[in-house]
Amino acid sequence: MQSTLSSKLHIGIIMDGNGRWASRRKLSRLRGHEAGVEAIRRVVEAAPQQGVGTLTLYAFSSDNWRRPKAEVSALMALLRSYLANEIESLRRNGVRLTVIGRRDRLPDGLAAAIEDAEIATKSGHRLHLRVAIDYSARDAILRAATQASQLTDLTRERFAELITGEAEFRDVDLVIRTSGEKRLSDFLLWESAYAELHFTERMWPEFDAEDLAEALRSYHLRERRFGGLQAAPSELALTS
Ligand code: FPP
Repeated sequence: MQSTLSSKLHIGIIMDGNGRWASRRKLSRLRGHEAGVEAIRRVVEAAPQQGVGTLTLYAFSSDNWRRPKAEVSALMALLRSYLANEIESLRRNGVRLTVIGRRDRLPDGLAAAIEDAEIATKSGHRLHLRVAIDYSARDAILRAATQASQLTDLTRERFAELITGEAEFRDVDLVIRTSGEKRLSDFLLWESAYAELHFTERMWPEFDAEDLAEALRSYHLRERRFGGLQAAPSELALTS
């Protein structure tokens, strides 16, 4: 069963390998994350032209708080400057930005900057860019389950709405993970129930429009049966 928003794809990306990319070049890990931001710019620009309507990027997991304090602060500062610097260009390019995850543990001012960016870009219709910050899929499911316990006639659609915070939501069609790792790491577990998975050796800072196109080519060659016997064309979502 898949809820549908439009015929455009929802892609989730686990942006992995910033640190290794940097250390191979004898650069600081921060430099790797900065190069990761460049890759985000490339992919956000390329995605709408490649049939992507929603792009969810895993920027900071709830487990990433375990990293050294200096790296956490640097990542938070990068997120903040991304929001400050990119809003205008996202707005001009029809990109709606929203952030998923907890906001109550973010450093001062970041939650307000997120809200500003969400308001400034809310009329974007070319691409919905969702950035996961202090995000854990298990926690999102648990929070939704707590709210759902008050409801009597719970459906999958209503539960999905509680998890995602979106009334109309398209499940993830394709999850991409860079750097050769093959794990989901607590990313969009409910939304990816029938997602295709694409793992690439490319480090995130190297990822570009051609890598996205290659992932999509491989996606379009697959048969999506959603548990049935008949192949569903991969570019069409099934309505529930
Ligand atoms: C994984 O690489 C990457 C992260 C934990 C952070 C991703 C963040 C960015 C790309 C930049 C900030 C994001 C935005 C939206 C502005 P890693 O550090 O775990 O790499 P490694 O496994 O090679 O050490």
